[in-house]
Amino acid sequence: MLTVNDAFRKFKSRLELTDREQTNASQRHKEVRDYVATKFAVDRDFLTGSYARHTKTKPLKDIDIFFVLKTSEKHYRDKSPSVMIDAVYDALIEKYGSSAVRKQGRSVNIDFGIKPNSEDKTDHRILSIDVVPAFAAGDDFEIPCTDTGTWIKTNPKIHAEKAVKAHDAYSKEWKGLVRMVKYWNNHPKHGEKPVKPSFLLEVMALECLHGGWGGQFDREVQALFATLADRVGDVWPDPAGLGPAISNGMDDARKRRAQTLLLEAGRQATMAIDHVRKGRNGDALKIWRELFGPRFPLS
Ligand SMILES: Nc1ncnc2c1ncn2[C@@H]1O[C@H](COP(=O)(O)OP(=O)(O)OP(=O)(O)O)[C@@H](O)[C@H]1O
Ligand SMILES: [Mg+2]
Repeated sequence: MLTVNDAFRKFKSRLELTDREQTNASQRHKEVRDYVATKFAVDRDFLTGSYARHTKTKPLKDIDIFFVLKTSEKHYRDKSPSVMIDAVYDALIEKYGSSAVRKQGRSVNIDFGIKPNSEDKTDHRILSIDVVPAFAAGDDFEIPCTDTGTWIKTNPKIHAEKAVKAHDAYSKEWKGLVRMVKYWNNHPKHGEKPVKPSFLLEVMALECLHGGWGGQFDREVQALFATLADRVGDVWPDPAGLGPAISNGMDDARKRRAQTLLLEAGRQATMAIDHVRKGRNGDALKIWRELFGPRFPLS
């Protein structure tokens, strides 16, 4: 029978990027890049965010592409962020149609109309892309944010470096654990995501996973949920020290809800660990499956 640790290994590998997904993401990137270049003067563009850091969970959606615009487009930078977002939106609906394109706070989302099956599989296809217009600002970037009505500074390189450092310090298990808690966060059973934005989970994990990898996934996840619950109400600044606090995405009521759900996940983890102690492996697997969702294996 599958042990809990082996089940977690399998779960972890199911949340890893496959070659075919990577190929599909590159194709979509190219397609969107070629089109955006017909509408804006683009200096360069690149895949970024959690996708580029390997901390994105499955199914793959909202893959961020930064489009760094040339100085000839700088007139947008002098206008309100909504003017920039509107311009990207108007350009994208011409190709993809208004039912597939959605304005977000800092990007415009293109939905490719792919629906995961009952096992949460997408036949290695990505669901959607976030087009993020950006201007270079020294070593950093400025991106429009309609939530705050300001242009905010960001630096994906610093976020990536921090993730690599945390991963290395945690016997290279850190990114896997981040993808797992983000998978929990996306479970449809919650309705709205407990933690918003999900980037906050990664930012918290930079500080909430410490002391080193102990070797047992169930213990690690139990401790992680408990610490996340304890600290989800705190203020979490941008790890690069540039943008607004990552924890600004939730008001107090939403933070309390997140804490309740994280505590509940921690309790389920404790129950599962107890089952193993009493020799009830199958019962433990069932709890983990219920906690995480269909990609957690029962066999
Ligand atoms: N408040 C912020 N200040 C500065 N940079 C930010 C801020 N929020 C997000 N970012 C940067 O923008 C990127 C994209 O943001 P997004 O919310 O899509 O997060 P993500 O890490 O890609 O997570 P997800 O898996 O949910 O897509 C982040 O990875 C981070 O590098
Ligand atoms: Mg993203």
